[in-house]
Amino acid sequence: TKQVATNVHWHHGEITRNDRARLIKQRGATLWFTGLSGSGKSTVAVALEQKLFELGHLSYRLDGDNIRLGINKNLGFSAEDRTENIRRIGEIAKLFADTGVITLSSFISPYQEDRDRVREIHAASGLPFIEVYVDCPLAEAEIRDPKGLYKKARAGEIKNFTGIDDPYEAPGQPEIHLRTAEMSVEEETDLIINYLRDNGYLG
Ligand code: PPS
Repeated sequence: TKQVATNVHWHHGEITRNDRARLIKQRGATLWFTGLSGSGKSTVAVALEQKLFELGHLSYRLDGDNIRLGINKNLGFSAEDRTENIRRIGEIAKLFADTGVITLSSFISPYQEDRDRVREIHAASGLPFIEVYVDCPLAEAEIRDPKGLYKKARAGEIKNFTGIDDPYEAPGQPEIHLRTAEMSVEEETDLIINYLRDNGYLG
């Protein structure tokens, strides 16, 4: 059995989160995009990153490329692996948000319990966690099928594909609800920017 480290304690530094916020003139937060494959999570995160940049705000995207090809390359798509995927990403997002960066995390994150756990670790650290439901009907995501994965899943070539033969639990109370089959990307990013502004996250 694996030995878990004991006697490990947090080492407090001299520079606080407030000091960092003053230095970079913004406060960190995690925007957590959740939705089906092909729902538009990455598209809206990319557009939002650009808009925030133009407004002078530092953000950073966590998505499949830098996570599932990197730190989480040992994980697959079983329920256990998805949970561990989200757990690690949640911890990473929390660290980024603590630096002061507006962190844009785009993963299917199909289980409410896993998302709630990420919310809890943010709350425990006094960091904002903003759940963004990227809501797209399965039929629409399947028509888009940007990577041809739904076709493969329907043909039985991919097992446990979210929405086909694996569950997706829609958020019960997301802070932001984007209906991507009805809204333009521009409208979506405006909605998010307004939310961030109204809640004082953009200074
Ligand atoms: S999860 O559930 O949050 O751990 O998934 P995530 O890390 O976001 O990875 C989803 C992307 O992986 C591809 N893919 C699959 N998705 C769902 N189910 C199965 N079985 C699967 N196998 C591979 C798929 O391209 C997802 O990409 P997105 O960007 O969401 O379309």
